[in-house]
Amino acid sequence: MGAAIDPKVLRARIESIDKLPTIPNTMKRLFEIVENPKVSLSEIATFLSNDPALVTRVLRMVNSPLHGFPGKVSSVNQAVILLGINVLKGLLLGATVFELMQKAMAGLWEHSYACAVVARTLAAKRGIKDLEEVSVGALLHDMGKVLLIFQCPDDYQRLIDRAEAEEAVIGDLEEGFFSVTHPNVATWLMQKWSFPKNLMEIIGYHHKPHLSKTVPMQTMIVHFADIMVRARGYGFAGDAFIPPVHPVAWEKLGLSDDEINSTLDEMELSLDAVEGLQ
Ligand SMILES: [Fe+2]
Ligand SMILES: [Fe+2]
Repeated sequence: MGAAIDPKVLRARIESIDKLPTIPNTMKRLFEIVENPKVSLSEIATFLSNDPALVTRVLRMVNSPLHGFPGKVSSVNQAVILLGINVLKGLLLGATVFELMQKAMAGLWEHSYACAVVARTLAAKRGIKDLEEVSVGALLHDMGKVLLIFQCPDDYQRLIDRAEAEEAVIGDLEEGFFSVTHPNVATWLMQKWSFPKNLMEIIGYHHKPHLSKTVPMQTMIVHFADIMVRARGYGFAGDAFIPPVHPVAWEKLGLSDDEINSTLDEMELSLDAVEGLQ
């Protein structure tokens, strides 16, 4: 392994991810929309009208068990009313990023989607009101890996190989390669994009959930869902190992075996919908 990449250089690269030739044009336009905190509904509608395939995918996602409005949402306008513009931004990103995820790492989309299903189920059990925020946070929790893979594909492949050889969790090795981890990298871009604070915390702290100030329970839920999905062996997040649950999260979540088992059952039922989204 060579010297770690200078974090300043890496940050500049991550922040200009939209300049990469390998990023599709639709995505670049979407990044502009997401980056603009004052974007209007009509601008989103115009963007979507140029891409009927994306509209279909967004509506399928909204109507899937993941978002809890099965079969009820038939237009983007309706989706905005039900979800709010910030969640819709996240959802649009999710619907588009899945293409990047599939290109970046086989199985990462499945990992992310399953994590969103599990996180949503757990959030409902814990009485969290804004379930969409949790779903979207979970769907995008590993977006930092996608960014690193697109900007540093060779280094990231070496990292995956090393994790396999050393039987390590990939997140634990990232710092040695990049000086930072995938949640740090995601946070850089989310700051540039003025992402809603709560989503930034869920995504930025999903491996250190005790650090979240605004949405600690939601962040612990996504942290735990991530590990549950790995334990279930669904999808692929860069390595085949199961990291420990943070003790604070374990204690604060206080889940019973019954709750964990019923969540796993709901996950099995919902995962059929993954095929429907592709
Ligand atoms: Fe992660
Ligand atoms: Fe993950």
